[in-house]
Amino acid sequence: MHITPSPRVAVIVVAAGSGTRLAAGAPKAFVGIDEHTMLRHALRGVFSAAPAQVVIVAPSGREGEALTDAAEASGDRRELVAVVAGGETRQASVAAGLAAVWPDVQIVLVHDAARALTPGAVFDRVVDAIDRTGWGVVPVLPVIDTIKRVEGARIIGVVDRAELAAAQTPQGFRRDVLETSYAVATQEYTDDAALVAAAGHPIASVEGDPRSFKITTPADLERARSLVAQHPIPPIRSSLDRAPRVPRVGLGTDAHGFSGGGTLWLAGLEWPGEPALAGHSDGDAVAHAIVDALLSAASLGDIGTHFGTAQPEYAGAHADAFLARTAALLGEAGWAIGNVTVQVQAARPRFAARRHEAEAALSAALGGAAVSVSATTTDGLGFVGAGEGVQAFAVALIVPA
Ligand code: CTP
Ligand code: MG
Repeated sequence: MHITPSPRVAVIVVAAGSGTRLAAGAPKAFVGIDEHTMLRHALRGVFSAAPAQVVIVAPSGREGEALTDAAEASGDRRELVAVVAGGETRQASVAAGLAAVWPDVQIVLVHDAARALTPGAVFDRVVDAIDRTGWGVVPVLPVIDTIKRVEGARIIGVVDRAELAAAQTPQGFRRDVLETSYAVATQEYTDDAALVAAAGHPIASVEGDPRSFKITTPADLERARSLVAQHPIPPIRSSLDRAPRVPRVGLGTDAHGFSGGGTLWLAGLEWPGEPALAGHSDGDAVAHAIVDALLSAASLGDIGTHFGTAQPEYAGAHADAFLARTAALLGEAGWAIGNVTVQVQAARPRFAARRHEAEAALSAALGGAAVSVSATTTDGLGFVGAGEGVQAFAVALIVPA
């Protein structure tokens, strides 16, 4: 029998901001902390709390990506998820989320996807406090720094720290209170509690969590990355987990055109005097074909899954960074690399003299796995023959570690 879930609580996850201050080349919620986006990490906290309807507010046009993260994070609670498009301001985005809350819901929590490492316990604590008090509830942390009042460069007073608290999310409210407060709001407020308080409703505080800091600047992202490295999201179980653990092969191909700017990087080597290849990173088609061959052998997706525009740190990266990360991903999934063979088709550069050097560089980047490189021209045929670009074909063998 199919049971329609009817939770009492909804969590609106606002993820529609552009991330101007982070400036990572993608809307902030889709920037990778590790191989997972900020939104995906935020949903880990949401789904480890008691079951609730989850309304994700995504940038208009990015709803599909939000759904992918939700599908991965929600497990057997998939039916509780909705994705809607956000607005120009955070307040407009919350309002869009609120409009998608199911009729039976009585308590609504609003959470910033940018507070990506908030533990599930904070959500439960906020709901408990609403049940106890009927008030709006904000998680807070004490202010540690001494706060000064300033006028330009001059310090004109001290503010008593004991009177201050730093507000976090999720902030929770009775649904009727939040809806009527949003309906009467005529200006922009810095958070939902301020909007609800302005409508005349009392607000209580509960203990926040240091991990709930908001990722705003590149330094915040670095901090999140080091925390996540100690406590990563367990890898998704792929169909391979039930397959017999036998050696597997994978195939990868790539092609890049010459762009004319900078120096050529190919097969992990720099080629001074040769025209550069164009690409999101350095255009090293040999390394990219190897990455795809290894990932496909392990059924771990492809190069776009792990090194796409959501991982801006790989823009401009060279083969060693891609290959080392790929070898680590395989290792985490229980695979060791048997060998890799790659053939490059290129009119130039001439590989013969540097073939062993290329093999050594690629092998070192893969932690010592055997790599063989061969090169050929195409007898003047096709885009390779015309000197427009290069292409590479790689086959990898992986074995259970
Ligand atoms: N947010 C939103 N819709 C907006 C603006 C912000 O849903 N129009 C969300 C963000 O995605 C974020 C949260 O509100 O999860 C807090 O906003 P903030 O940290 O300011 O994120 P951005 O607005 O994306 O960043 P910035 O201000 O640096 O551009
Ligand atoms: Mg903002």
